[in-house]
Amino acid sequence: MSKMRTMHLCGILIAGPVVHSHAVWRNPKHPTNFLNLAHYVEIAKLLERGKFDFLFFADRLAIADRYGASHRTGIRHGDQDATRMDPIPLLGALSAVTTHLGLGATRSTTYDAPYNIAREFSTLDHISAGRVAWNVVTSMNDGEALNFGNVLHLGHDERYDRADEFMEVALGLWDSWDADALVLDRENGIYADPDKVHYLNYHGRWFQSRGPLNIPRSPQGRPVIIQAGSSGRGKAFAARWSDVIFALQPTLERMRAFKKDVTEALASASRPADSSKVLMAMMPFIGESRLEAEEKRDSHDALIDPLVGLSTLAAHANSDFSELPLDASVDKVRSSSGSQGNLAALKSIAAGQSITIADAGRIYGRGVMCPRFVGTATDVAEQMADIVASGAADGFVVSPAFLPDTFEDFVKEVVPILQQKGVFRRDYEGATLRQHLGIAAA
Ligand SMILES: Cc1cc2nc3c(=O)[nH]c(=O)nc-3n(C[C@H](O)[C@H](O)[C@H](O)COP(=O)(O)O)c2cc1C
Repeated sequence: MSKMRTMHLCGILIAGPVVHSHAVWRNPKHPTNFLNLAHYVEIAKLLERGKFDFLFFADRLAIADRYGASHRTGIRHGDQDATRMDPIPLLGALSAVTTHLGLGATRSTTYDAPYNIAREFSTLDHISAGRVAWNVVTSMNDGEALNFGNVLHLGHDERYDRADEFMEVALGLWDSWDADALVLDRENGIYADPDKVHYLNYHGRWFQSRGPLNIPRSPQGRPVIIQAGSSGRGKAFAARWSDVIFALQPTLERMRAFKKDVTEALASASRPADSSKVLMAMMPFIGESRLEAEEKRDSHDALIDPLVGLSTLAAHANSDFSELPLDASVDKVRSSSGSQGNLAALKSIAAGQSITIADAGRIYGRGVMCPRFVGTATDVAEQMADIVASGAADGFVVSPAFLPDTFEDFVKEVVPILQQKGVFRRDYEGATLRQHLGIAAA
């Protein structure tokens, strides 16, 4: 009998009031204490009990003010960008209260310097004993540009060209100390072998960096590299650099097509098909019965004002379409230099149906198009197992509707069923995140 395909699980958060669901902070059961470390400690420990591969923090670098050219809508309703604390200090704190759980965060190649990023993640990889991941993004909109002294966000493909160079420098810096460079020979007073520490001398179009890094090689060699671009250029970038690819595809057909594209892109980059793991975002609603799960979903959706979703959509698309009436077709919305994959996916849901801009706001607000798996724990586990068995994904990014409720339900109810089916680990078998994911050491 062929070996069952096992899956990988990531829990996604933003260090703020919402995640994909814009209702998280409105949890009617209890307040979500998103400015307090205890909130994140509770979730990290919960996911570690559930043997998740890793906890991941998405990030962006500006409040959303594209919709109506004002911050009023996003701030008033609490959209995805209304508050985002810096996730990197949080990862440091969480590494101290967990032992196996991987810890990931986003940093932008458009608004940071490779030397800073290389130091941050090398430090985190050391203090977590090899458990960190970096989600490489190129950022999305003019709001982010304005916070860094640029009037306009760089063009879409140009951002990825710059990101290619960024990766060359960061990887060069992480490789600037050989694994055995640190000698620590106390008797003879030799700290490290200078022949095993190398200058980089990188001179590119965007970046110059002499190196070497001022930190010895970290346990994973370099962090797990995550990428989530869904445009053609984004996928080519992911195929070149990533160990994990995040995707948000609203339907099974789109998941399949995405995985196929990734497999082809990996082949074009001369990499084996399983060298980068594709994790699909999903939002579970779990009930004792299907009816109870549907009621949970409906009570969640009732908390969404379409405007909160439109504020985030305008930020993602980097375009202000507030002049369009709410009952106009979503086909009229155009992206400028923002994310292209998301808008294309939204229009694909609309294909053949009349989706208005208000509908798009509700869809975006309730979960930015994350597919929802609604049912009993068995239903949800079976749906997940089927997707992985069909080869459409290597695992999932579990996106909470409420915190900590969704993760509590998932860890208590769904994880044991996945384990009984033999499609998810019963315990951690390795120490580093690369080992959890079954990807090669760097
Ligand atoms: C699970 C998931 C997490 C993401 N996290 C971030 C993030 O933290 N910051 C960000 O700017 N974009 C994030 N994105 C969005 C993608 O990076 C986005 O598609 C990209 O910025 C635009 O690339 P594209 O034009 O190639 O689609 C995420 C996407 C997914 C599916």
